[in-house]
Amino acid sequence: MKKIKLFDPFIGRDEENSLHRVLKSKFWASGAGIGKVQEFEEKFNKYVGSDSCVAVNNGTAALHLALSLFDIRNKEVILPSLSFVSTAHSILYNGGKPIFVDVDPKTLCLDPELIEKSITKRTKIILPVHFGGMPYELNKIISLCTRYDIVMVEDAAHATGASYKNKKIGRHGDAVCFSFHPVKNLAMPTGGAITLNNKHSKNNNLTLKIRRWCGIANRKGSKYDVVDLGWNYYMNEFSAAIGLAQLRKLEMMNSKRRKIAKTYYEEIEVKSKMPFNKECCYHLYWIRVKNRDLFMKKMQENGIETGIHYFPIHQMKFYKGTSKLPITEEVGRSVVSIPNHPNLTEEDVDRIILLVNRFGS
Ligand SMILES: Cc1ncc(COP(=O)(O)O)c(C=O)c1O
Repeated sequence: MKKIKLFDPFIGRDEENSLHRVLKSKFWASGAGIGKVQEFEEKFNKYVGSDSCVAVNNGTAALHLALSLFDIRNKEVILPSLSFVSTAHSILYNGGKPIFVDVDPKTLCLDPELIEKSITKRTKIILPVHFGGMPYELNKIISLCTRYDIVMVEDAAHATGASYKNKKIGRHGDAVCFSFHPVKNLAMPTGGAITLNNKHSKNNNLTLKIRRWCGIANRKGSKYDVVDLGWNYYMNEFSAAIGLAQLRKLEMMNSKRRKIAKTYYEEIEVKSKMPFNKECCYHLYWIRVKNRDLFMKKMQENGIETGIHYFPIHQMKFYKGTSKLPITEEVGRSVVSIPNHPNLTEEDVDRIILLVNRFGS
């Protein structure tokens, strides 16, 4: 029986050759590298259409650094609880207070009406997560930010290549954070990026570049100064080289994901499933089932890997007791991700649909 993975990077000769070139150069770290990190930043910035871009070594670092631009100490940041824990941790790293808000059950993204109800005098940032690659109601969130003078930082870890109102994700918020973890739409061994868009983009770009490498600035040959507290968040040259190869075929990979998602949407018979939207890049495809443990077991027995995205953050031991979110809690009990990636064949997709309809409805 053929096993089907939940996530599976789509790689070929281009990645192999790029890696080989970096290996042979022996310049593997960005500080002394052969310029792949900078090339990736420039090309990704152009692809997205943002003002500037800073590459880092993962999505968590991107969130940490992006939020560090806006002094959130003792301020509130609105976010969903249905996310990977880094979304919330990044607020605590910067001394802010996470305010978890419930999601819209149709998309599993933040519900703009509930966001507005949660805004207080201490709200500094709204941090939406484009769940599964689905940007949702960004116009409403942007107008809330304008009306209440709030910054928008987007967690676009799932949304590389997605768009909203025909503009690429990465183009809208003050800062937008991407993850290039191997399971993501643009896969690297490890990587992330922040794109910047507001009027302070140029200064913020410099601040981020200083903070991603230990606060170091004014390098001249082997001399340098340390002007800020920073971290070692540099992307390495191997990741950037793979990222460049992946960027060249990102549109093709995302259109495969979209095609599969459309077929799932049309043919899967469960009560609640991810909607179809041409602007979504379908990092994952979610459905909701009644008996999740049994469903996952049956799928596993038939060679199909499934996953849970996510157990809500506010129900984790470290964050417990912070909020009550009925929709998120219900979704957290029933949501399952099924395979959606460019390596799937039509036969794989048909088999997945058959089994989901047998065990999930
Ligand atoms: C929504 C979300 N935010 C942030 C991250 C963190 O990204 P990374 O794993 O690259 O640190 C992830 C990664 O899984 C994610 O899914």
